[in-house]
Amino acid sequence: MCGIVGFTGNRNAMTAVIQGLSGLEYRGYDSAGIAWVADARLAVKKTAGRVDDLAKILPVAHPSLAIGHTRWATHGAPDETNAHPHLSPDGKIAIVHNGIVDNYLALKQTLGEAFLSDTDSEVVAHLIAREYRGDLLAAVEKVLPLLDGTYALAVIAADQPDLLIAARKGSPLVVGIADDATLVASDVVPILPYTKEVVYLDDGQVVVCRGKSARFRAAGREIEVATTTIDWSVEAAQKGGYPHFMLKEIFEQPAALRNLVHHRVKIENNAPAFNLEGIELPTDYFRGVGRIVLIAQGTAYHAAMIGRNLIERTALIPSYAEYAADFHYRDPLLDPSVLVIALTQSGETMDTLQGVRKARDAGCKVVAVVNTVGSTIAREADGVFYMHCGPEIGVASTKAFTAMVASLYILSLRMAQMRRTLDPAEIMRRTLDLAQVGPRLEAVLSTANYIRQIAGRYAEAKNFLFLGRGTGWPLAMEGALKLKEVSYIHAEGYDAAEMKHGPIALIDENMPCLFIALLGRRYGKVRSNIQEVRARRGRVIAIASHNDDQIHEVVDDVIYVRAESGVMNSLVCAVPLQLLAYYIAAAKNCDVDKPRGLAKSVTVE
Ligand code: G6P
Repeated sequence: MCGIVGFTGNRNAMTAVIQGLSGLEYRGYDSAGIAWVADARLAVKKTAGRVDDLAKILPVAHPSLAIGHTRWATHGAPDETNAHPHLSPDGKIAIVHNGIVDNYLALKQTLGEAFLSDTDSEVVAHLIAREYRGDLLAAVEKVLPLLDGTYALAVIAADQPDLLIAARKGSPLVVGIADDATLVASDVVPILPYTKEVVYLDDGQVVVCRGKSARFRAAGREIEVATTTIDWSVEAAQKGGYPHFMLKEIFEQPAALRNLVHHRVKIENNAPAFNLEGIELPTDYFRGVGRIVLIAQGTAYHAAMIGRNLIERTALIPSYAEYAADFHYRDPLLDPSVLVIALTQSGETMDTLQGVRKARDAGCKVVAVVNTVGSTIAREADGVFYMHCGPEIGVASTKAFTAMVASLYILSLRMAQMRRTLDPAEIMRRTLDLAQVGPRLEAVLSTANYIRQIAGRYAEAKNFLFLGRGTGWPLAMEGALKLKEVSYIHAEGYDAAEMKHGPIALIDENMPCLFIALLGRRYGKVRSNIQEVRARRGRVIAIASHNDDQIHEVVDDVIYVRAESGVMNSLVCAVPLQLLAYYIAAAKNCDVDKPRGLAKSVTVE
């Protein structure tokens, strides 16, 4: 967790670092700090607040070298002392760190010095200072092997006015190489205003930046690295007139999914041609797959649950969705016939990464469905299916969820094609239906004001239940997760069939229940569950099919959606769930993009 930025070059490094940190607050926002070099001394400012608060206490200065940090606390309270950068005892070395130094207590003992903070990170500055004799690179390279755990580190020294050294092991780090400067950052967002040419550092690599020059090293030697050109615009990473990134990203869904489908599916000779670019598996590979395990955390796990249903029904391969953390620690039975699909927006979630490593160690093929290009999981998987839905900044995931569901549908249709488990005409019909995703999502979004009115009636609720059957169940879980994340209302999502086995005891006039109640084979059962809630005076909101002309008689509020197929049902239902959570949180004046205690990219276990 945490975000780091470093800048060296011919522009104001302070501005670059502060702007960069603002773009990284999704990684944590408990405290923030910056260090820069002025007159052969290190200047440091920190705050227990956010990057905006930090910017307010900065003096006017034009340094050409600076490093900064926005923190998600792991070791030590989120106060000013524990905020990064951390300094060596003589104040001549400053570091920022994302990751966890597991052996920091043992290292502190070997140093026998006093430490100002409770963090694991401060020891790194002390260790580098102990080794420093005018050659910062040599000192850093001597210390790195001593550190157990994970790090993305940026280091500067008071007597090196243009030198920035950064290193990576287990935490993401990107290097941007501009005409007049070099930047390092936890992701590309801080780099985009300066350059689109980046290098994704690999574990064990070090970069030595001096002004516009960057030299890359591994195992103590210089190495050649590949540069990647980023196609995201700066504007795409900004709010574009919306009050929150979450709302912007909800409204970006028609365009994001349209692009995804357009990029991945073409109709050629009256048949769909799927482009699985990034997954270079032999063409007959999917015929030999015996089992598919989808691993993910958070919102991505709910997409995995839906994907499980899609794959089983379409490609007829036994499939299971698992929390990656449990998959990793449970020692599941694996063999090379198992395909593991890892779903992750950031590509950096530590639990998911551990699951990927476990699967690969067991000889399974791993395909990752990822949004962030060049991320760790994207690089460690055997194949990567990029969703290309643009940066997702709001901590509560929205467009990445629907993009994951659509990606899994495309994958399942391609598997069905290769395994001949669906009639070609049926594959064509489903593909054409998926191609309608843009207008279908736009139609739901056009009801946003109506959903806002409904949200206003439930903003005072203390608890909420979300219920659905079949694919409605993971949607219910996602609706509950969205609401609790951003509004702090306690919410649970259940399979509606499970309601009678416990949750029904909670229902009274103060318990709103949202039902996913679309027409289809489970509709009758869901209607019965709605009646059971009403019999206990619960309030009911239903997400219902546009042509259901009876449901309004048995519910308090109804949001109609239009869809004709299974996958489209999931996509169009996700949007009102997101909007409801957003508008309830906004009505309660919650900090929608930065909910307390959360971070977007969770790089700790
Ligand atoms: C965090 C975020 C969630 C996200 C989950 C998995 O918990 O707050 O929004 O769904 O991580 O993230 P990933 O990047 O792996 O999809």
